[in-house]
Amino acid sequence: MCGIVGYVGDKNCVPIIIEGLKRLEYRGYDSAGIAVLNNGNSIILKNKGKVSFLEKSVEQAGLSAHIGIGHTRWATHGIPNELNAHPHCNTDQSLMLIHNGIIENYQVLKTMLKKSGIKFLSDTDSEVIPHLIDSFLKKGHDLFEAVRFALNEVEGTYGIAVIYTKEPNKIVCAKKGSPLVIGIGENGHYIASDVNALIAHTKQVVYLEDGEIAEIFADRFSAKTIEDEDIQKEIIELTMSLDEIDRGGYQTFMLKEIMEQPESVRNSMRGRLIFEEGTAKLGGLESVLDRLSHSKRIIISACGTSWHAGLVGEYMFEQFLRIPTEVEYASELRYRNPIINEGDTIFFISQSGETADTLAAMKEAKRKGALCLAICNVVGSSIARESDGGVYIHAGPEIGVASTKAFTGQLTVLALITILLARRKDMSLADGKALYNEFIQIPEKIQKILSLNEKIETIAEEFKDSKNFLYLGRGYNFPVALEGALKLKEISYIHAEGYPAAEMKHGPIALVDENMPVVFIAPKDSTYDKIISNIEEIKARKGRIIAIASEHDTEIDKLVDFTIKIPDTIRMLMPILTVVPLQLLAYHIAMKKGLNVDQPRNLAKSVTVE
Ligand code: M6R
Repeated sequence: MCGIVGYVGDKNCVPIIIEGLKRLEYRGYDSAGIAVLNNGNSIILKNKGKVSFLEKSVEQAGLSAHIGIGHTRWATHGIPNELNAHPHCNTDQSLMLIHNGIIENYQVLKTMLKKSGIKFLSDTDSEVIPHLIDSFLKKGHDLFEAVRFALNEVEGTYGIAVIYTKEPNKIVCAKKGSPLVIGIGENGHYIASDVNALIAHTKQVVYLEDGEIAEIFADRFSAKTIEDEDIQKEIIELTMSLDEIDRGGYQTFMLKEIMEQPESVRNSMRGRLIFEEGTAKLGGLESVLDRLSHSKRIIISACGTSWHAGLVGEYMFEQFLRIPTEVEYASELRYRNPIINEGDTIFFISQSGETADTLAAMKEAKRKGALCLAICNVVGSSIARESDGGVYIHAGPEIGVASTKAFTGQLTVLALITILLARRKDMSLADGKALYNEFIQIPEKIQKILSLNEKIETIAEEFKDSKNFLYLGRGYNFPVALEGALKLKEISYIHAEGYPAAEMKHGPIALVDENMPVVFIAPKDSTYDKIISNIEEIKARKGRIIAIASEHDTEIDKLVDFTIKIPDTIRMLMPILTVVPLQLLAYHIAMKKGLNVDQPRNLAKSVTVE
């Protein structure tokens, strides 16, 4: 969840690291730090808070060097303060290290190191690693070997980068469970936890795999396993551009990403729908298509917003494929000793492709013999690489911590998979073509909803001081209620709950009074009459109602306080539309409260620790 950047080469590493950290700040933003080597000396600067504070200290210090590492932190062990910020070092400050992940046996290691007289300055788990490496340096090993030996003693997850005054021309880095990528430049090499930090400098990258360690110099790099086997790494050419990770004139990344959805959804479906055959073509599933089509059971596993997308997928698969489908939190699946039978397929959904629980659940399911498929946004991410096949979302980089365009992209991909499999089962050509026709109109319909932005902002003004919210929906729109509530709570810090509308009577209705806003997702579908009854029940208890309704529904205006009217589509595609006004509502409420929507408190973009 933290961000790592490093550089060794001809250029001044300081602006490269600061710029890279800013691009990674969405991953963690509690504190930041930098360490460089200069004329045989180490210099460390770190602070609590944003990278911009670090930038000021760096400028004041006139820091400049050709080798350095930087870190932006999301606290796990120890509060966010200067002492706990990375880099951490050994006792004589000759060795500096940055770390993402969690060292699970750090207490044991710390006790052992303390016994040998080492004093610890921070409360972090990470600080044990430089001291452990130092103990191997003292036995006469070089940096690479010392790091390798130290990592063999460590339990847990890590992405690390280390520099050492006595070997001042190299960065040693290693990975297990936390992403790490090497960038290859001209007369310089980079390391980062995320390609966003490198893309301004190079498109040639090498992904480290779990259990691999590398050393990078200005003009070369080499890698081994931590068991000491030589390995050849493949160089990959990135296709993303710098523009994709800039705000592009918007005040926030979140708004940019909401507004991008007509295009991002178009990109998710681009070249994948075939009208003549009324089906979809998904290259990443071709090699497993027979096995997938004959699945006896499908499990969808994910976390957070991606889990909500999975719930929509369950409705799609059961309606069109008639394959029993279950949706599991990845954090539960991984520890539940799940019963995996022959013929089970598990889809793992993840925007980042790096979520620790999802990745671990996938590894566990693979061990048990399931067909493991990925639906990821980040190309080349760990979950994508670990899978037996899958589909990229192609929504483009999502920087705002609150997931928006990735969610609509995930729904688009799930719908494409549904069409593809349904047409191999019993969906007719005519029905496939009808679906195609609905599908291709979705981007335009999202655009129409986005044109309601100002109206939604006015509604947000009404509700910005509310303390609680209820979101209610039925069928395909029940997961959208969950997602609407999650969006609101994560960026506005207002308590919000999503429920299936019918469940309201089983408890939550007790909360309803004139201070309780209730958002109904109520398009004209087969559950419309039922949801209208639920609206009446809330009305009778003086709840204030906002309804997401179909554009031709004039009846609902008489029942509710505010309506947001959206175009119609078929049920399975409806969530791609109904979620958009909920994203905007959450966005405007949070902005009106003066909050940082891109970097909400306590959160990080990808949760790479348990
Ligand atoms: O990268 P992933 O899709 O695996 O992330 C899963 C969740 O951490 C993520 O969706 C989280 O809930 C977002 N903050 C939601 O906006």
